[in-house]
Amino acid sequence: MAMPPELEATYNAQITMEYGAAYSYLGMSAWFEAEGLPGMAAWMRAQSAEELTHAHRFLEFVLDRDGTVELGPIAAPVLDFATPLDVFRRSLAQEQAVTASINDIYALALAAKDFASNPLLDWFVAEQVEEESSVQQIIDDLVRAGDAGHTILMIDRELGARGGVEAAASAEE
Ligand code: FEO
Repeated sequence: MAMPPELEATYNAQITMEYGAAYSYLGMSAWFEAEGLPGMAAWMRAQSAEELTHAHRFLEFVLDRDGTVELGPIAAPVLDFATPLDVFRRSLAQEQAVTASINDIYALALAAKDFASNPLLDWFVAEQVEEESSVQQIIDDLVRAGDAGHTILMIDRELGARGGVEAAASAEE
């Protein structure tokens, strides 16, 4: 079942955006690694891997709908940050941009009566609520920590647990 060309174009743009998010999180991970915060680095690596799965989901959907996949260029990610809080604030801004983009696709799909898009987009709408919420929680924790180095280290260790769990899960796949 083919979809309207303008909808196909927005799905293709979304594939590139998700790859861009993966690349951006990789840059954030490298910065944390260099700063001696391996837990946050692992969290960002896991986040980067998750973005790739998002890109692939959209890509497979375009193919399933008899569309043509087009991959756009990805800008070099930011590699220099001021503080861990700065990184996570940028991460939240990135997630908010992704949410807005998915909402735009949803509006376009509804206007075009492309109801086959609904299950995929519903999944992403729920996923974005979760993504924004988890980053916001980390921001709140870092704001509360302020300059307290030992608290930042505690947050780092806690976030490292996610990176380790997800790396183990993907190794089993
Ligand atoms: Fe794929 Fe974090 O949005």
